[in-house]
Amino acid sequence: MIRLEINGRTVETDVDPCVRLLDFLREDLGLIGTKEGCGKGECGACTVLLDGDAVDACLVLLGQCDGAAVTTIEGLGDGAHPLQKSMASLGAVQCGFCTPGLVLAAHALLTRCPEPSTEEVRRAVEGNLCRCTGYVKVEAAIFEAAREMSE
Ligand code: FES
Ligand code: FES
Repeated sequence: MIRLEINGRTVETDVDPCVRLLDFLREDLGLIGTKEGCGKGECGACTVLLDGDAVDACLVLLGQCDGAAVTTIEGLGDGAHPLQKSMASLGAVQCGFCTPGLVLAAHALLTRCPEPSTEEVRRAVEGNLCRCTGYVKVEAAIFEAAREMSE
């Protein structure tokens, strides 16, 4: 039996511990906000928070999450989080495939570093590939959210 917390809710499961966290979230729990891109740790589309750290859910096995707290994009609420609002309002979302992962990577950064430098922002999202935005608006959205979250 594996017991973990997902988006604040305790989940107990007998699912094979060798299942990828990504598959457990999407297929067993229906949390399809977490996307699968490359499936091998290169694109960041599957980023979730594991005990507050941004991780690639395609590289994490369910068994490694026993006793841990996982946050997916659904755990940030229904679009009302400052990062979600700034990404949308500043045009940092185009196709949107990378967006949940970017938001969670940025969330991990702003939690440990509320006033990041440009370099720190770039480093935080360097593992999240976006084919659409060019990152300028993504960076602007992260700074906008940082301002709002510090008020
Ligand atoms: S799907 Fe996990 S890093 Fe690309
Ligand atoms: S908005 Fe399309 S990949 Fe980022």
